[in-house]
Amino acid sequence: MGQPTPARKDRDWWRSAVIYQVYVRSFADGDGDGTGDLAGVRTRLPYLAELGVDALWFTPWYLSPLKDGGYDVADYRTIDPAFGTLAEAEKLIAEARELGIRTIVDIVPNHVSDQHPWFRAALAAGPGSPERELFHFRRGRGARGELPPNDWPSQFAGSTEPVWTRLPDGDWYLHLFTPEQPDLNWAHPAVRQEHEDILRFWFERGVAGVRIDSAALLAKDPDLPDLAAHPRPHPFVDRDELHDVYRSWRRVADEYDGVFVGEVWLPDPGRFARYLRPDELHTAFNFSFLSCPWDAARLREAIDTTLAEHAPVGAPATWVLCNHDVTRTVTRYGREDTAFDFATKAFGTPADPVLGTRRARAAALLSLALPGAVYLYQGEELGLPEAEIPAGRIQDPMYLRSRGTDPGRDGCRVPLPWAAGLPYAGFGSRKEPWLPQPPDWPMYAVDRQQRDPHSMLTLYRRAVALRPEFGEGPLTWLPAPEGVLAFSRADGVLCVVNLAPTPAGLPAHSRLLLGSGPLDESGRLPQDTAAWLRA
Ligand code: GLC
Repeated sequence: MGQPTPARKDRDWWRSAVIYQVYVRSFADGDGDGTGDLAGVRTRLPYLAELGVDALWFTPWYLSPLKDGGYDVADYRTIDPAFGTLAEAEKLIAEARELGIRTIVDIVPNHVSDQHPWFRAALAAGPGSPERELFHFRRGRGARGELPPNDWPSQFAGSTEPVWTRLPDGDWYLHLFTPEQPDLNWAHPAVRQEHEDILRFWFERGVAGVRIDSAALLAKDPDLPDLAAHPRPHPFVDRDELHDVYRSWRRVADEYDGVFVGEVWLPDPGRFARYLRPDELHTAFNFSFLSCPWDAARLREAIDTTLAEHAPVGAPATWVLCNHDVTRTVTRYGREDTAFDFATKAFGTPADPVLGTRRARAAALLSLALPGAVYLYQGEELGLPEAEIPAGRIQDPMYLRSRGTDPGRDGCRVPLPWAAGLPYAGFGSRKEPWLPQPPDWPMYAVDRQQRDPHSMLTLYRRAVALRPEFGEGPLTWLPAPEGVLAFSRADGVLCVVNLAPTPAGLPAHSRLLLGSGPLDESGRLPQDTAAWLRA
């Protein structure tokens, strides 16, 4: 196999990239009003460059009433004033690119905000109007139309709230998430046209990629049948019509060398891989790895299944340990149940932060050694734990719509600590952050961690810098005792992770490149520790 030419390597950057997820509202507060913003991100670009990431994925930064953290978009061509302006976004994209960092924006095609001009026009125009055809408006069931049109369940785990809301004029409208997020009708040509225009709008502004929110939910059975009576094909999950949509999106992206990453939560690996065919999406998030418990056999199985499902379509895998929707890694790995599942989230689940941190350090080296792209979620590099947010301060609709039984996702969205000695741990200067920071937040601050050779931040910086040593080659498992994961990549670099209770001897090597923790007195790898070795 010849070395790829620089031009080809550059075009294929996404196949092995380290991509950092910025949740703008909680990253850095430039104007001191308690909400993160683009000015804050711009001042922290040198930090991101030093971390060594190849790209930034920004969760939605568009005009939004923020009923679902910005996943309720009122206008894709305007930046929310809380975050900044379009001119600032353009500057940010250009400044990042000068530092070698590409930008990925987040598009939410399944729904818009109820404040979007299309939905407001649909409400004003009334039943039977063409404006309502852009959404899913229906008459209700029952003698007076008082019952929702079908039995579909909410897509917010833990929520028993209906996915239909009735208007005073008698029509009901569909929203798989909150009532403030009406679902678009993807059978309508104007909906398709508008999204292709939005893609162009952002590609024209220099973005390198697009994350597609809820990518498997857009298409609906036109009859909107009851799920109980018509489970297959599913009336709104993973419908075949979607692939035609993504094939036309791909043609737009190809004009700009843009890339897609789909948020595709599907249990069936074969169905998942269909989204990654060469003329559809370039990549999709790997939720089986994210959900996997800290268990050697289960992790190996998740890795093997992932690589096997991607191979036939030629798409690179992605490796994700956490994001803005799930429990922070150090907390999850410090619990008795180390898997992630929306259904089992509960208030007050005990976690051992020392154990969780040790495992999260090992998991960082594991995921950064695997072939494909790696996603880091802001604060993961600081080892931030999940915060318990006081009930009165929780803003996440997942909590509100579960009637307070599901803790929601705000615990992983707490504003970042930048400087231990400053108010609000250096997140912003004047006003308390929109979500409260736990009292021990300064302990995790960037300024403390960058001086500490043993900090999580130092580990991530070293690992991201060393990651190219693994090359582009495939993964080969090496013989290892039970509970130990050991593999090599083509360039003769090995990764060993010990999840077993007893220390493990290391395979023959010429040099220890990096360890997630110290070896024991006999040079063996202790439990919950990972090492990178040169063979
Ligand atoms: C995706 C987002 C999540 C959002 C939901 C509805 O799952 O990651 O944050 O609430 O879509 O848009």
